[in-house]
Amino acid sequence: MSDESVLEEWVSQARSSFEATLSPAELENAKALYLGKSGRLTELMKGLSALSVEEKKSRGAAINQAKQAIEQALLERRQALAQAELDAQLRAEALDVSLPGRQRASGGGLHPVSLTLERIEAIFGSMGFDVAQGPEIETDWFNFTALNTPEDHPARSMHDTFYVEGGSEQAPNLLRTHTSPMQIRYAVQHVKKHRALLERGALMPEIRVIAPGRTYRVDSDATHSPMFHQCEGLWIGENVSFKDLKVVFTDFCRTFFESHDLVLRFRPSFFPFTEPSAEIDIQFSSGPLAGRWLEVAGSGQVHPNVVRNMGLDPERYIGFAFGMGPDRLTMLRYGVNDLRMFFDGDLRFLSQFR
Ligand code: DAH
Repeated sequence: MSDESVLEEWVSQARSSFEATLSPAELENAKALYLGKSGRLTELMKGLSALSVEEKKSRGAAINQAKQAIEQALLERRQALAQAELDAQLRAEALDVSLPGRQRASGGGLHPVSLTLERIEAIFGSMGFDVAQGPEIETDWFNFTALNTPEDHPARSMHDTFYVEGGSEQAPNLLRTHTSPMQIRYAVQHVKKHRALLERGALMPEIRVIAPGRTYRVDSDATHSPMFHQCEGLWIGENVSFKDLKVVFTDFCRTFFESHDLVLRFRPSFFPFTEPSAEIDIQFSSGPLAGRWLEVAGSGQVHPNVVRNMGLDPERYIGFAFGMGPDRLTMLRYGVNDLRMFFDGDLRFLSQFR
């Protein structure tokens, strides 16, 4: 084989050995065989000194050419390996941009029933009503007896009551079945606060309060939950009449539903703590519920026995009370047809009210 073809052979061997390497370290090892300190081409260069000037020139040029070709192959392989390494890294760290983005947890929002309670409080607040809170574990006295419900009265069994520990056989503790006990609790505090005035026979400031909160009954279906909400209302003074109840409640409903042609109906009913008593129905003139009567509250003139249990003289003080269902109001306002959705805790439902 001529010297030239040996060089060509080496160049092609070098190229294929470089190509066979899989890492930069392997490549540097393969390079050493040709271009290292005692590599084949380095050795050839060393041998040039023994040749004549003419031979040095042509031989040297040929060796240089081969050297450059090998260096070129080395450079190409280096770049290819670096590119392969980069590709592998990019592949390993790849982002799937087609995945749905992760939302930053947003601030959350109020529960739809809480929105309703806020609305009720704001509307009655604007009419001069105080907002009161009371215990959910009640005594038999506040929940029934003080509200003129006799021991053997069927109204006691009308409520399927959750009785809880504590209290005595005669005065058991229970989960309040309605917010009406707050009528007594609030009035008693009010009377205490104004005792001096009352003892002098002076005029006591009116009682005007609403009491929203959780209530409990043994009941569970699409429109009843064992835990539900009520909002009590009470207005007691010297000259508070049924007419005032009608005005106040009509105003409330029209403002709450933002519907000024909403019609109300006071349907005679019975409650032990009011006389006369009325169930309040509303009717929308437009929308999906137009024309249907929908019950939203119980109400009535506070029974003299209840006024007495508040510590007031029923000959002097008179007023009305009502009890409504904020859950029902929320369903009507937002068009929700299953009460249980409010208490399932499903964020897909709840986040619609944010
Ligand atoms: N407490 C009654 C209930 O739970 C609702 C009610 C009716 C409240 C008449 C009242 C009232 O204050 O006057 O069904």
